[in-house]
Amino acid sequence: MADARRKITIPTLLEMKAKGEKISFLTAYDYPTARLEDEAGIEMILVGDSAAMCLLGHETTLTITMDEMVTLSRAVTRGAEHAFVVGDLPYMSYQPSDRDAVINAGRLLSEGAVDAVKLEGGRRMAGRVRAITDAGIPVMGHIGLTPQSHTQIGGYRSQGRSADAALALVGDALALEEAGAFALLVEAVPAEVAEVITKRLTIPVLSIGAGNACDGQLLIVHDLLGLFEAFTPRFVRRYANVAEVMRTAFTEYRDEVRGGHFPGPEHQYPIKGDELALFHAAVEAEGR
Ligand code: KIV
Repeated sequence: MADARRKITIPTLLEMKAKGEKISFLTAYDYPTARLEDEAGIEMILVGDSAAMCLLGHETTLTITMDEMVTLSRAVTRGAEHAFVVGDLPYMSYQPSDRDAVINAGRLLSEGAVDAVKLEGGRRMAGRVRAITDAGIPVMGHIGLTPQSHTQIGGYRSQGRSADAALALVGDALALEEAGAFALLVEAVPAEVAEVITKRLTIPVLSIGAGNACDGQLLIVHDLLGLFEAFTPRFVRRYANVAEVMRTAFTEYRDEVRGGHFPGPEHQYPIKGDELALFHAAVEAEGR
């Protein structure tokens, strides 16, 4: 197992793949969550543009801005001492040109302090991956269901389910590796297809909804915790029902405030009896 007290690096991840050790990967969008994930020994953290939906209440991931991603990345990297942190390049921060891609990837590293960036797209993004990598910035590819192009791929649907589509994904994966990507994320793809990709690539292949044969697994932390209730993709396993815990706590608090039971004496600051007597006397003398 990777030493949880050591900073995870790209060589650590390559070593894990070589040894067949599974990599755990979770999203985080804030400091306390990143700290807890880091403490638990999660090897990789993604500051995902899914923050748009899970954290900021947007309808899609397309509307989060570069500045917002920088702010969230700064918070996460403050909390992640050991984990390898990947920052998502938001929509239109890398699509227009190599120059935009390098400048915005650089912002995520220099302002957000992430270890690497992620961008969506297969072979058509190979040039961008090469440009960013040539600038000394590690890039994770992302193929399969790519939420930033959900309209173009016909919605939030699984991908690679015909022989041709599956072969195209293998080609995309190889093109991204060839372009210098240090890792690849495969989303919502049949496990058998992701298994071939994992075996063909020398870089770590991470799965979100792409089965158990990949080198590691990613979940969106709000899905894992049961904190995002709008919809639950097929590939999610809920490990907790934090929404229910929060609901109960908020309702209890509201009831205790309404009933005058909170705050109790133990939550108040004491004043000495003689000081209080002096205070009351002064108030009375002033006729307040
Ligand atoms: O933003 C994100 O969390 C992602 C996952 C949906 C893979 O990119």
